[in-house]
Amino acid sequence: MNVQDYDFFCKMLKEQSGLVLSKDKAYLLKSRLMPVATRWKFANFDALAKAMRSRPDEKLLRDVVEAMTTNESFFFRDTRPFDQLRTLVLPRMLKNRAQQRHIRIWCAACSSGQEPYSIAMILCEEAAKLAGWRVDILATDLSGDILRRAKEGAYSQFEVQRGLPITMLMKHFEQNGDRWQIAQKIRDMVTFRPFNLLNDPAPLGRFDIVFCRNVLIYFEHPTKAKVLAGIARQMPGDGILYLGGAETVIGVSDRFQLIEGQRGVYTIAAGVPAAHTAGAPARFAVG
Ligand SMILES: C[S@@+](CC[C@H](N)C(=O)[O-])C[C@H]1O[C@@H](n2cnc3c(N)ncnc32)[C@H](O)[C@@H]1O
Repeated sequence: MNVQDYDFFCKMLKEQSGLVLSKDKAYLLKSRLMPVATRWKFANFDALAKAMRSRPDEKLLRDVVEAMTTNESFFFRDTRPFDQLRTLVLPRMLKNRAQQRHIRIWCAACSSGQEPYSIAMILCEEAAKLAGWRVDILATDLSGDILRRAKEGAYSQFEVQRGLPITMLMKHFEQNGDRWQIAQKIRDMVTFRPFNLLNDPAPLGRFDIVFCRNVLIYFEHPTKAKVLAGIARQMPGDGILYLGGAETVIGVSDRFQLIEGQRGVYTIAAGVPAAHTAGAPARFAVG
């Protein structure tokens, strides 16, 4: 691959998805895009690059961008965020939203669905406390292909062995040949739709809890800051943000502050104008 083609792909990917490729990632680009070239019947990588550089078909552009996303995910990833959700965040929200009895959760880069379904399983376990409540889970991703997989809710043996407690597997899944199908009841709790984090999330509405995990790592500083600012605008003062284990707001955004003693869990920082929720306290109080 020549330098011009590599630079072209890097610029295009950053504009379309925020993904930043360092100088040494030519092998990654090529290995992920060769299957796209084959599918689109290009003779080789250079032919794909040439087509991309001369006003590409919308669908081809989408295929190229999606092929470059990393979709690694698993159930109850890192365990702790989900324990915190059950033991700290949910009880606090039940108290703070006692009037509205409505909580909105956003999984902002949901990949193949393990994250929103993990949340849904927790809510299912807490059903007694949530009787009479409405809890919406909106799960979004840039990739249409991965959203189709997520909606289907069917996982391989390997996927259900990663992070999913056996009790949850037995309770919420049904074996169908070599796949494990998540229960319709859990699937019905999650709404999937495409959304690019580079866009303004205002049309998605307000969210009490946001999971934006393991996606900011692929972006550079200004993109991370813009995404976090957009998320903050959609959250009330007591809203909660979850980032991935290798991600932080420190040095990136002053809109959020870490909840003391809770790694990876943030709330809106003091002094930041927040989305209004009738009856909700202004800030998330810990303890
Ligand atoms: C590594 S997965 C993380 C999945 C899940 N949040 C987790 O932590 O297990 C990253 C996901 O981010 C999505 N993604 C990448 N760029 C995006 C963007 N600009 N807007 C929305 N989603 C994006 C990818 O398609 C991919 O599914």
